Amino acid sequence: MSNSVVSRAAFGAPGGGGAGKGKSFKEILFETQCLVGEFNVADYYPGMGWVNRINGVDRRIAESRRDLEGFFERVIGEHRDRTAADSGEGDIIDVLLRVQKESELTDDQLKAILLDVFVAGTDTSTATIVWTMTELIRNPTVKRKAQREVREIAKGKPMVEESDLPKLSYLKQVIKGSFRLHPPVPMVPRETTEPCTIDGGRYHIPAETRVFFNLAAMSADPAVWENPREFSPERFEESEVDFRGKHFELLPFGAGRRGCPGINFSILVVELAVANLLFRFDWKLPEGISAEEVDMNESLGIVMHKKTPLCLIASLVNN
Ligand code: HEM
Repeated sequence: MSNSVVSRAAFGAPGGGGAGKGKSFKEILFETQCLVGEFNVADYYPGMGWVNRINGVDRRIAESRRDLEGFFERVIGEHRDRTAADSGEGDIIDVLLRVQKESELTDDQLKAILLDVFVAGTDTSTATIVWTMTELIRNPTVKRKAQREVREIAKGKPMVEESDLPKLSYLKQVIKGSFRLHPPVPMVPRETTEPCTIDGGRYHIPAETRVFFNLAAMSADPAVWENPREFSPERFEESEVDFRGKHFELLPFGAGRRGCPGINFSILVVELAVANLLFRFDWKLPEGISAEEVDMNESLGIVMHKKTPLCLIASLVNN
């Protein structure tokens, strides 16, 4: 679903629009995302780049680049032929093509922006929805409360709509709680511009060093959070803490000028998805599995997914 929403916004069609020939866009994207999270020995020991020729990483990077180039060239070409590019409407490619006419934006830069949007925008929202549903199934009282709220607000409608979201204050706390325990991008990199010392002189970090901020550890820090491992959306009821980059104890979207530009887009997608899942369905675990037995292991990679798929039984309800 996340992929279709981003595809519609970027290409005007779900599933990558004009993909179709050979690999699907989803397959191409999947391989790209695997490569982004792949351990690359040359990042740490530049002299050992030859290892990537032996272990196949160089070949996969070249193939992935060729697939992506081919795909983006095709869809950009299709958009160039359309009239929407001049009409002031259209999707992200139409907008970028308009920008290109008035600026120095090259085709390569345009492709890189599109890739950024896909790599950064789909897996992250998916992981958030899965982790939120996982916490809800493990915490039935929270699930019931969130479900009551959603069903009251959207009563009589076929679906929860975007205009209902501002009224779903408990649902927002639930999603915040999920971001706190399961930030989809747990480690955010930066490069130091000047030498610095932290923790009372304990650590000296030279300039031009790659450092990682462990957002997952920060949002579960016992020095800041009471019962840090507990999923309790109520903790946000009276709290000022938000995830927009001002409160360092909760930074699922990073912070500063490299902070996530997709924050508003993704919050809408996630809230709408979870709200409708709760509105239209009742959920339970498969027979014989208790809430305590739900596997909470995380997968390795740039986005922190649930390691094993979440398997739930849905039953449709008429509200
Ligand atoms: C729940 C969903 C999402 C989460 C948790 C998330 C999280 C993040 C994080 C932690 C970063 C790094 C921020 C930093 O370095 O300070 C980031 C960067 C980025 N995100 Fe998101 N993101 C989400 C959805 C999206 C969506 C939907 C889009 C686009 C449609 C998007 C586009 C980007 C881009 C382009 C960057 C790179 C920004 C840059 O380096 O300047 N993200 N995101």
